[in-house]
Amino acid sequence: MTPIALSVNGRKIQALVEPRTHLADFLREHCRLTGTHLGCEHGVCGACTVLVDDEPARSCLTYAVQCDGLAVQTIEGFDVDPIMQELRTAFSREHGLQCGFCTPGMLIAARDIVRRLPDADARRIRVELSGNLCRCTGYLGIINAVESVIAARASKPTAVASAAAATPPAPLQAFAPTGEVAPVSMATPAAALEEVRTGWTRLRRVLWWQDRRRRYGRSLRTFLQWSPASTGPS
Ligand code: FES
Ligand code: FES
Repeated sequence: MTPIALSVNGRKIQALVEPRTHLADFLREHCRLTGTHLGCEHGVCGACTVLVDDEPARSCLTYAVQCDGLAVQTIEGFDVDPIMQELRTAFSREHGLQCGFCTPGMLIAARDIVRRLPDADARRIRVELSGNLCRCTGYLGIINAVESVIAARASKPTAVASAAAATPPAPLQAFAPTGEVAPVSMATPAAALEEVRTGWTRLRRVLWWQDRRRRYGRSLRTFLQWSPASTGPS
């Protein structure tokens, strides 16, 4: 077991986790934050999307130990977030959800789009949301919802600035911490709003690491297979 200390929805927590535990399981089973959904568990559907240090990340591909010292925000942590409130209203109005399974990940990805791309059109929204799959609603209502929030905010120029300065959400009571740790900043990096990226950028980063691990494991296995000890007379 590995000790970790991180911030979840503004609450500082410490825990002992197995290195193989991914962030989604940690959030759902350890923190009891079941708003993070698991669909495919291999980085395709986006249902498990959360914010890690203010960037969307697939929690099924992120190990909990990788989040040591970082700030994680789940769908439960957006109760007082103004953009999320607008998105929830818009999703409801535009019929952007049906069963709701994909919705936590969709909303977190949509909020990221609204913050980063204040002039995104429907085509750009489709590209940005391409890493989030919905099995039942169809995407038109979702695209319309995000587009309507961007349009509404564009008509209020101060809205984007006030969103960037939004205070972190109130901490939840779902998990009792085992002790206090050094404070973890929830502040938004200034450059994050200008960064242009698609929903797959971070997935590529994770897959790169997995590829490295696979290659090193294969090299080690090959070495052991051909070592004199294994090729000598039996
Ligand atoms: Fe599908 Fe994580 S559960 S991307
Ligand atoms: Fe059912 Fe998207 S609303 S999967």
